[in-house]
Amino acid sequence: MSIVVTGATGQLGRLTVEALLRRGGPAADIVATGRDTAGIKDLADRGVVTRRADFADPDSLAAAFAGAEKLLLISASIPVDERLAHHCRAIDAALTAGVSLIAYTSMTRADTARTILAGTHRATEEYLRERDAHAVVLRNSWYLENYTDQLPLALQHGTFLGAAGGGRVSAATRADYAEAAAVVLTTEGHTGAFYELGGDQAFTLAELAATASAATGTPIAYSDLPAGAFTQALTGAGVPPELARILADSDLGLGRGELFTDTGDLRRLIGRPTTTLADALAAALR
Ligand SMILES: NC(=O)c1ccc[n+]([C@@H]2O[C@H](COP(=O)([O-])OP(=O)(O)OC[C@H]3O[C@@H](n4cnc5c(N)ncnc54)[C@H](OP(=O)(O)O)[C@@H]3O)[C@@H](O)[C@H]2O)c1
Repeated sequence: MSIVVTGATGQLGRLTVEALLRRGGPAADIVATGRDTAGIKDLADRGVVTRRADFADPDSLAAAFAGAEKLLLISASIPVDERLAHHCRAIDAALTAGVSLIAYTSMTRADTARTILAGTHRATEEYLRERDAHAVVLRNSWYLENYTDQLPLALQHGTFLGAAGGGRVSAATRADYAEAAAVVLTTEGHTGAFYELGGDQAFTLAELAATASAATGTPIAYSDLPAGAFTQALTGAGVPPELARILADSDLGLGRGELFTDTGDLRRLIGRPTTTLADALAAALR
C-alpha cells in the first residue's frame, strides 16, 4: 500500500509523514513529494520514498503518483488564482494513477463560507465531486501557529492586530491536523466523509490576547481594525500585498463564524483532546 503526500516539503505535509511513520507502516510505503526534494532528504534517509511533484507540471504528477493507493492532496500556497488549476491537475493525475482515495485539505465550512480562500476550496471540492473521485475532505480551521508565530511581534507592540471582531476561531495545531490526516489515510471508512476539523476550545482574538498575556506575564491587547486598515498594517510590516488582502478577508470570515466548528471531528479522529491555545503558547515560548 503506498500513500503519497503532496506538500511534504512544507510544514503540514512533513508533520503528516512523521505521523504516518509513527503509526508504524513501512517507510517505503510512504511517498513524500514536493517541488524540490532536497528539503526532504532526511526523510529519504529514513526510508521514505521522495519524489518531485509540481502542481504546475502534469508529467511530474504522473510520475510522482504512479502506483499510489492513496493521496493526501495538501492545498497549494498562493498565488490564490492558480490554486484551483493546480488542484485539478493533481486530482486528474491521481485518478489516472488509479488511487482508491484522495484526501484533500480544505477549509472550515468551505461549502458556505464567503472568503477568497474558501472559494478555491469549494471549487476543488466541487471538482472532486464532478470527477466522481473517491475522496475524503479534511476541512481544516486555522492553525494555532498563525497566532503563536505572532507572539514576538505582539510582545514588542503589546497588541495583536486583526479585523475579526468578536468572531471565534477553532484553531488547532498543524500537528493535530497532521495526525488526523494520518489516521484517515491508514484506517478504513472515510470515503465520502467531510470532516470539519478544529480545536476543542474556540476563542476570540481578544481571548487570544488575554491568554497570551497570562502566558507571558506581559499585557497584550487585541486591536480590532477595519479590514482596510488591517491590510495596510500588514503590508506596512512587510507582508506581501496579496497575502495581506487574503489575511484581512479571512479575518472578516472569522468574524462571521466561518472558521468556527464544534463538530468534535478532530478530537474524535485523533482519539484525544486537541492541543489548547495555552499549551501551544507555552510551547512557543519554550
Ligand atoms: N489552515 C491554515 O491556517 C493555513 C494557513 C496557511 C496555509 N494553509 C494551507 O495549508 C497548506 C499547508 O500548510 P503549510 O503550513 O504546510 O504550508 P507550507 O509550509 O507553506 O507548505 C506548502 C506546501 O505546498 C507545496 N506547494 C505549494 N505550491 C506547490 C506547487 N505548485 N506544486 C507542488 N507543491 C506545492 C509547497 O512546496 P514547496 O516546498 O515546493 O514550496 C509546500 O510543500 C498551504 O499550502 C495552504 O494551502 C492553511
